[in-house]
Amino acid sequence: MHYLDHAATSPMTSPVINAMDAAFRVVGNPSSVHSAGRTARRLVEEAREAVAAAVGCHPAEVVFTSGGTEADNLAIKGLWLQQQARHPHRSRLLVSSVEHHAVLDSANWMAAGEGALLEQIPVDEFGVLRMDALSAMIERDPASVALISVMWANNEVGSLQPLAEVVALAAQYGIPVHSDAVQVIGAVPVDFRASGLAAMTVSAHKCGGPMGIGALVLQRDVTPIPVLHGGGQERDIRSGTIPMPLIVGMAAAFEGAVAELDSHCARISSLRDDLVARVLALEVGAALRGHPTRRLPGNAHFTFSGCEGDALLMLMDAGGVQVSTGSACSAGIPQASHVLLAMGLDAATARGALRFSLGRTSTMADVDAVVGLLPEVVERARKAGMINR
Ligand SMILES: Cc1ncc(COP(=O)(O)O)c(C=O)c1O
Repeated sequence: MHYLDHAATSPMTSPVINAMDAAFRVVGNPSSVHSAGRTARRLVEEAREAVAAAVGCHPAEVVFTSGGTEADNLAIKGLWLQQQARHPHRSRLLVSSVEHHAVLDSANWMAAGEGALLEQIPVDEFGVLRMDALSAMIERDPASVALISVMWANNEVGSLQPLAEVVALAAQYGIPVHSDAVQVIGAVPVDFRASGLAAMTVSAHKCGGPMGIGALVLQRDVTPIPVLHGGGQERDIRSGTIPMPLIVGMAAAFEGAVAELDSHCARISSLRDDLVARVLALEVGAALRGHPTRRLPGNAHFTFSGCEGDALLMLMDAGGVQVSTGSACSAGIPQASHVLLAMGLDAATARGALRFSLGRTSTMADVDAVVGLLPEVVERARKAGMINR
């Protein structure tokens, strides 16, 4: 089997599994005041310190959530509502058009039911935010902007966003910026304090940690209106029993990912470059999507002319290579990716997308398998496409 879908989820590392195995054996709710509870609490706070060190923030700025999706929901809904409560004239919500659905759908929901004035910031042909467009949008009426959300790197085409420029521009007008950094932990250096962000979403399972745990990193004076109500855990920002073993696993994953960042990225990007060069040399109608150089080290994203991505995916899977089309299909119906459409591709071209995402366990044998399999897979997918037409 050749697993090349690390952007969907990456296998847990041995240190993570060992740390969690030990943590699962510790009994106690971290909010209980007896000694068992205090032991569990100590493990949570040590893990919080490790996560904070890995992303360059103060431990008090880490609010654990059930993952990236919840952190994005809390950021978009909670920060917009907080702004509204303090500054009722600030109702515009600016989000990039290539955000993950956790951001985009939260923003749409706020526009449909809460009165947020949603505007999508366009991207260029590489999926990179157009700073000229953002600048024009803000300058139209800076005092009406509640929040800007721009992801650190795109999960489909891998393009890195000009976040420093976004934050510098927003700072001129006192507008808070949120960034979904789910794909970048262990892939690019992340320093929350230096970034100037008001809020940042992270998730454990994309870098060797367990599924179902993540965090919203929040500057200390930034307090979103909670989305979940209950026991008042996590500074009353995120209620719910604190899942100590998952948090311990997340800390081990972040520590490992950050410690190995340089060597990992050098190895993975060279494997990826090899994969890209060899796929393009096959002359199977592949076009590389996303920014040619400023992209995630493990991401290679192509469209194949005349093919359906789903057919390619199934045929690759039958040949032992696991990849992704990059976008979710709704109710089993293949949809052209909103990211590729925002980049200006037509729907037919966009439906031929295939994302290869490399990670810690990837080797040259995986790349060889892709290159060996692709010509036949593309030919069969193209024929199937013609029959279905
Ligand atoms: C950019 C991005 N944001 C958010 C998420 C959602 O994170 P989680 O799976 O932890 O809910 C993902 C996962 O696919 C992602 O790639």
